Amino acid sequence: MAQTLPNNLEAFWMPFTANRQFKANPRILVGAKDMHYTSQDGRQILDGTAGLWAVNAGHCREKIVKAVQSQVAEMEYAPSFQMGHPSAFEFAARLVNLLPGDLNHAFFTNSGSESVDTALKIALAYHRAKGEGSRTRLIGRSKGYHGVGFGGIAVGGMVNNRKFYGAYMPGVDHLPHTLNIQEAAFSRGQPAWGTHLADALEDIVQLHDASTIAAVIVEPVAGSAGVIVPPKGYLERLRQICDKYGILLIFDEVITGFGRLGRGFAADYFGVVPDLMTVAKGLTNATVPAGAVFARKGIYDAFMNGPEQIIELFHGYTYSGHPVAMAAGLATLDVYQEEGLFERAAELAPYWENAWHSLKGLRNVIDIRNLGLMGCVELDPVPGKPTTRGYDVFTRAFQKGVLVRYSGDTIATSPPLIVSKQQIDQIVGTVEESIKEAA
Ligand SMILES: Cc1ncc(COP(=O)(O)O)c(C=O)c1O
Repeated sequence: MAQTLPNNLEAFWMPFTANRQFKANPRILVGAKDMHYTSQDGRQILDGTAGLWAVNAGHCREKIVKAVQSQVAEMEYAPSFQMGHPSAFEFAARLVNLLPGDLNHAFFTNSGSESVDTALKIALAYHRAKGEGSRTRLIGRSKGYHGVGFGGIAVGGMVNNRKFYGAYMPGVDHLPHTLNIQEAAFSRGQPAWGTHLADALEDIVQLHDASTIAAVIVEPVAGSAGVIVPPKGYLERLRQICDKYGILLIFDEVITGFGRLGRGFAADYFGVVPDLMTVAKGLTNATVPAGAVFARKGIYDAFMNGPEQIIELFHGYTYSGHPVAMAAGLATLDVYQEEGLFERAAELAPYWENAWHSLKGLRNVIDIRNLGLMGCVELDPVPGKPTTRGYDVFTRAFQKGVLVRYSGDTIATSPPLIVSKQQIDQIVGTVEESIKEAA
């Protein structure tokens, strides 16, 4: 049903938004159920982006809604510092059962950014606990997105997220990104070209010496920079080099976690187990803000030395393990498991891939990339006006009833894992029409 616009759009300083452009022509969502949002003017909008790569089980799922309602009425908050409550332990135990290898411990946060900063801090403190306190360097990757904390932007590699904020953290270096349109355009899934780019880690080690390097952090598939799929063998090679030099490997699975690639985690999909893994978003189906860092047994154990009355890790958030988030997370896991949503994503992935690659040859389309239920169309920028074509396609698609994401001139999509084939056709068909109509 149509609703009126808020009276005052000025007060809310919107994140990652062109505020003046938006407020002149707002797009307001007022309801959500399963695969659809309802817009303020009463239209059904097919959600091609799972909100922000997050609502993997679809919107307002009854089981999750009820779990949140009942927890908030029973105990709305309890601290996790020197106190505990059952659902945080239960959720952690269920999560680590889902994880590959000996990723046996979960540290709760409230967002992906906090998960990243937590993982970086654990990596630094781990080496120190082992008597290798000289390992303080952190290695990220160009085009990486690791949220917006100072740690995350330091290891991140998206220039606009960094250039306004001074010198951030010292002692950070970057691997090159793996996007190469000339060599690998229109690869289906993992490109065959680019494995050698992992060897840049060897060069970084030669430059700084392994004894100064704590950790390498990468997104297994880069999401925000536009679905950059790792070349075949690339992540395996990073793992080997990290092992050779005692460097921790961190996978930022804030997007790829919880079924996006058709397995629980990208670590399962690629068969590469990191030492630390960051998640958020799909952890609670985005119903309540929450994130987590998963740590391998040896990392946790390294902290469990010394006098037992001393706090082992001086880190945590007021809302770490928030009861309402834990309730949402437990119910979310139930929905994923009862409905086999990770397997469903795997089954749909070939259909998804074919649907997107059917746009090859369309005017202004210079690359198409996909993996699991992630997809991206890269558009040739309008000369002298970067991002305008991406924005044009995004707004046209929204007018036609499909929500996609644009970042610069890339159109990215990642629907809830309950999407049907007919809805995949609607998402791709709407993007196709919008590209044809856009300047
Ligand atoms: C890979 C990755 N890491 C971290 C984040 C930051 O998460 P949040 O926005 O919850 O802080 C994101 C958000 O999109 C992400 O994609």
